[in-house]
Amino acid sequence: MVGAVITEGGVIVAEGFHAAAGQPHAEVMAMRALGRAPRADAILHVTLEPCCTHGRTPPCVDAILQAGFRTVVVGATDPNPAHAGKGIGRLREAGVAVVEGVLRDECTDLNFLFNHWITAARPLLALKVAATLDGKLVSAAGEPRAITGPAAQADVHRWRRLFPAIAVTADTLLADNPRLTARDADGEHAPVRFVLDRQFRSAGRAGLNLFTDAFRGRTIVVGLASAVRAADQAWFEAEGIQVWSLPGDGADFLDAWAERGAAEGITGVLIEAGPRFASVLLREGVADYLFAYIAPRLGGNPESPAWFEGGAFPLVAETTSLFGQDALFRGYLG
Ligand SMILES: NC(=O)c1ccc[n+]([C@@H]2O[C@H](COP(=O)([O-])OP(=O)(O)OC[C@H]3O[C@@H](n4cnc5c(N)ncnc54)[C@H](OP(=O)(O)O)[C@@H]3O)[C@@H](O)[C@H]2O)c1
Repeated sequence: MVGAVITEGGVIVAEGFHAAAGQPHAEVMAMRALGRAPRADAILHVTLEPCCTHGRTPPCVDAILQAGFRTVVVGATDPNPAHAGKGIGRLREAGVAVVEGVLRDECTDLNFLFNHWITAARPLLALKVAATLDGKLVSAAGEPRAITGPAAQADVHRWRRLFPAIAVTADTLLADNPRLTARDADGEHAPVRFVLDRQFRSAGRAGLNLFTDAFRGRTIVVGLASAVRAADQAWFEAEGIQVWSLPGDGADFLDAWAERGAAEGITGVLIEAGPRFASVLLREGVADYLFAYIAPRLGGNPESPAWFEGGAFPLVAETTSLFGQDALFRGYLG
């Protein structure tokens, strides 16, 4: 997500944003929105350092110089180590005054998925949990099943729209029969929906939303090649569901899944884990990022295990937000 604003005499005269890969960048969109040459006192403000290389679009630095901007304000530098600082350098060489690092943390956060992808070349694996104050992900009998309220749930739907993929285990699939779509004012959207199911226990389970809804072609069941039976494979194929059979004995399953995801160009996965899987993701250091929604109520299911056993898990670049009465703590797992 990149945005740009042009001001003249301290007044906003044009805005632009980068809508999708291959589309013109935010600076160019703002210049187009201005529809004329900027005034001599115009300032271009952009959340991300302007690009200086030919990618799917021409370099924004050229467009900025051509338009005649004398001052550019930049939020975050380019996360790609091969390009970082180069766009700013070219602007300065051409005599443009560049103010950098304005709202750097906020601007960096706008692109946290892409930043991880470009530096690690693997999907950002983000663990998402909704927990009671006593640390339970499952409600006690007789309590509402949803842990958090509508505002926090709406925020989860916003993230489901942003992440290219989402994942649950077979246990959560079979317990909850989730839809894993983003549902908001813009309609219903399905990211890629992974079912992590090493033993293919979900095979043949008719009637599940992920296996029957209009988006079932975006459901991928991921299991071990050693566990898949021809009949199960045929069942998934007949239902229009994709199957990834991964090599190995199960110990390195998550690593193999992330590798395959990287090869398929999946930049991030929001993992909506139950307590046992959440605890594995933390203990084994598999999760890169955490979304923890905490509801202000005690009384989770006493039978349900803790989701954070086995270590200390500090959050880096942590952000705290309130949604109704629920708090969201999110950040990189240090
Ligand atoms: N509040 C929340 O945020 C939230 C979110 C989701 C679910 N839930 C609730 O959680 C409950 C389900 O929780 P759960 O503890 O039974 O299930 P879970 O934590 O979702 O999944 C447990 C399963 O994860 C798999 N697993 C464990 N280690 C693994 C590894 N290293 N690699 C790959 N897979 C691994 C195992 O299945 P295999 O051995 O078959 O691979 C295991 O049975 C449901 O009641 C659901 O409503 C709550």
